Amino acid sequence: MAAGVGGHERLINGQGLEVEGKITAAVVITCIVAASGGLIFGYDIGISGGVTTMEPFLQKFFPSILKNAAGAKTNVYCVYDSQVLTAFTSSLYVAGLAASLGASRLTAALGRRNVMVLGGFTFLAGAAINGGAQTIAMLILGRILLGFGVGFTNQATPVYLSEVAPPKWRGAFNTGFQFFIGIGVVAANCLNYGAARLEWGWRLSLGLAVVPAAIMIIGALLISDTPSSLVERGKLEKAKKALAKVRGKEADIEVELADLVKSSEIAKAMNQEPFLTIFERQYRPHLVMSIAIPFFQQLSGINIIAFYAPVLFQSLGFGKDSALIGAIILGLVNLASILVSTAVVDRYGRRLLFIEGGAQMFICQVAVAFVVAAAAGTSGTRHISKEYGASIVALMCAYAAGFGWSWGPLSWLIPSEIFPVKIRTTGQSISVAVNFATTFILSQTFLTMLCHFKYGAFLFYAGWIAVMTIFIVFFMPETKGIPLNSMHQVWEKHWFWRRFVTVQP
Ligand code: BGC
Repeated sequence: MAAGVGGHERLINGQGLEVEGKITAAVVITCIVAASGGLIFGYDIGISGGVTTMEPFLQKFFPSILKNAAGAKTNVYCVYDSQVLTAFTSSLYVAGLAASLGASRLTAALGRRNVMVLGGFTFLAGAAINGGAQTIAMLILGRILLGFGVGFTNQATPVYLSEVAPPKWRGAFNTGFQFFIGIGVVAANCLNYGAARLEWGWRLSLGLAVVPAAIMIIGALLISDTPSSLVERGKLEKAKKALAKVRGKEADIEVELADLVKSSEIAKAMNQEPFLTIFERQYRPHLVMSIAIPFFQQLSGINIIAFYAPVLFQSLGFGKDSALIGAIILGLVNLASILVSTAVVDRYGRRLLFIEGGAQMFICQVAVAFVVAAAAGTSGTRHISKEYGASIVALMCAYAAGFGWSWGPLSWLIPSEIFPVKIRTTGQSISVAVNFATTFILSQTFLTMLCHFKYGAFLFYAGWIAVMTIFIVFFMPETKGIPLNSMHQVWEKHWFWRRFVTVQP
């Protein structure tokens, strides 16, 4: 579909019109700045796992867990099994879920950029409250605000990236979001490592979440909204300027602008409630993907590894320091692997990454289950030797790499690129809500599951990885390089989904 014309990459869209596909400095900078919206989410993921292993933090808020750990020579699978502790971690996700659903309307009415700013400020307030928390109530209130923050930004940022990026490189640009999540995770893990030595380290770790929030707020204030959101909100002149800026001076933007105006007019003429429209039969494939992809992403078990890596390593017999170092190594591997995705996603497509990553994660989870079983014994009372410990870390790294180039970035990319503009923000909202709901349920149940299923907990996730990989093989069409306004074609041509969609002229 791509053709080089006069030094510009051009793509033919659904109406047979040409759309500019050139990478300009402006589009690169804009997307890097926008992608920093992922920082706050990643920071939180990294921080919460580490803080919940810090003794002064547990002493102040969850003293019973410490007593448990002191008396528990008994069973390594069960030491950290506490509902209150997991409620602390996962309260954010309930708030985020509500916020992301509300964000659908806000993002359509106020624009993608403004919702990112709003999310940044809410997160900032939550970080400040958490840093100064005196009671559990303050902790939870802080986390709810953090949740609102990530609910807003996770909804608006991927849509922003997909709308601004040149279609041919949309995948690569969109992976920036996951990359910043990864940076947030690693920064937070490193900070935890240092903070764990201080009596008030947990305050530092929680409070410094204001830094990524400030970075993303300033960044978001510097960029303009996406052309398609500006057109949708009737700001045609601004849309033209924004488009000219990201597509470059010599670019012919009239065709793309006309296309955006046309889609927006069609959407307006229908004047329907997007939360109803999305349930129409013709949008069934889109809806299924926006639910299945984030649901499966979580059932890969990634957060179990990410949130609880320090807890997990510790409960598997690693010392405190080595547990945090293990988590940092895992984060770095994940970060590097996202770059692999950036390089590959628009060349070889989404499906290849999904399938290869899935196979890799499957093998690793099965292997982790066996090694943990051999190392800790089925009763969980055996001391874990260095060799076994090292192989668990190595397997988890291979797993993190598989996730990093597949389900990690692609779960943000796919929902943001498959919907027509009139229900795009709604689709993304549903997707974020499903992601958070699943994260909540899994994190709420994992430690109990580890306690009861023991090493079988890892096999549970392996089973899901097999299911989701097979799902991709049969049901996910390739979306690489297709302009957003022509995406309907991929469903019209798909062996299964074509029976649902109405063919568009
Ligand atoms: C997921 C998160 C996960 C993170 C790990 C994201 O794509 O949605 O749940 O913790 O990746 O880096």
